[in-house]
Amino acid sequence: MKGTRDRLWVRWRPTLLVLCQAGPCRVKLLSLFCIVLVAILVISRAASIMGWRHHLDSPQLPSRHQYTVLINTWRRNDLLKKSVAHYTQCNGVNAIRVVWSEPEPPSNSLHLELVQSVEASNLHNNNRHNHKISFQFDTHETDDLNNRFKPLNGLHTDAIFSIDDDVVVPCALLEFSFGIWLSAPDSMVGFVPRMHWVQSMKHAVEQEKYTYGGWWSVWWMGSYSMILSKAAFIHHKYFELYTQQMPASIHQYVREARNCEDIAMSFLVANATSAPPLWVKGRLFEIGSTGISSLQGHSEHRTQCVNHFVSVYGYMPLVASHVKVVDAQHQWLW
Ligand SMILES: *[C@@H]1O[C@H](CO)[C@@H](O)[C@H](O)[C@H]1NC(C)=O
Repeated sequence: MKGTRDRLWVRWRPTLLVLCQAGPCRVKLLSLFCIVLVAILVISRAASIMGWRHHLDSPQLPSRHQYTVLINTWRRNDLLKKSVAHYTQCNGVNAIRVVWSEPEPPSNSLHLELVQSVEASNLHNNNRHNHKISFQFDTHETDDLNNRFKPLNGLHTDAIFSIDDDVVVPCALLEFSFGIWLSAPDSMVGFVPRMHWVQSMKHAVEQEKYTYGGWWSVWWMGSYSMILSKAAFIHHKYFELYTQQMPASIHQYVREARNCEDIAMSFLVANATSAPPLWVKGRLFEIGSTGISSLQGHSEHRTQCVNHFVSVYGYMPLVASHVKVVDAQHQWLW
């Protein structure tokens, strides 16, 4: 072995010596460095040199390759204006609808302002979208949380992106996650995961009890079984199931507790699919002050909801998952 290595050295030594003897060695090393740099640049541009282009940004999108943005608002007109203005900028948005659950309908001036903002952006984005985004309020006279999942009339898409007025999802992330939903249109696809944890049982005969797991427990354990509808893609067929087929006792529970409509939707989808939802990695931006989830005792109410829904269903339909979907373009190695 040693002999081989020596022979190799003898063969390479003259080359190395020539490299460093013909002129200053630093110049040689510098040119070597330049060659490596150029090689790296060439490799990184290989996609365009090889003609590996894709057509993700095709401007002509049929409606089934578009989605409806459904904004939930609670009398926070400044947040609503910001949200609407933001989503008019995103590709793939077919329509923006706002769930308005108040005894008073939205004021004419608010309505006019929002319509004008959407129209202005339609004009501005004419080349990019090749279609016009429509805007509409869906008004309900009660503040029932079930209103959020009332089937929408005059819809042109199957995909609904359900979003609270105080959360903003960047357009690129929205388009990426819509692509994931297209691959799994029966699943809820979104950004806010939650988990149901099994409580340790005191007596074997008791029905299993569950604890609602917030963000920290999901982060710590890497498990989730729900994606909250505050930022999620949901197939519109589940709105019909929610309103027309889901047990009335769950509607009543949600109405009276003024909470947990999102958990009810997670149960419904899990019961229909026997599959977990999909969590997409991405950063959301919170605008405005903190909402209901910062209220005291929120987590206990959510735990009660989970256990109540389990008793209605007669079993626990939620399925845990450890899958987190990431954008491969932003992953450096594999
Ligand atoms: C769960 O799904 C089954 C099968 O789709 C359905 O028959 C049943 O009514 C659902 N349960 C509830 C409580 O909605």
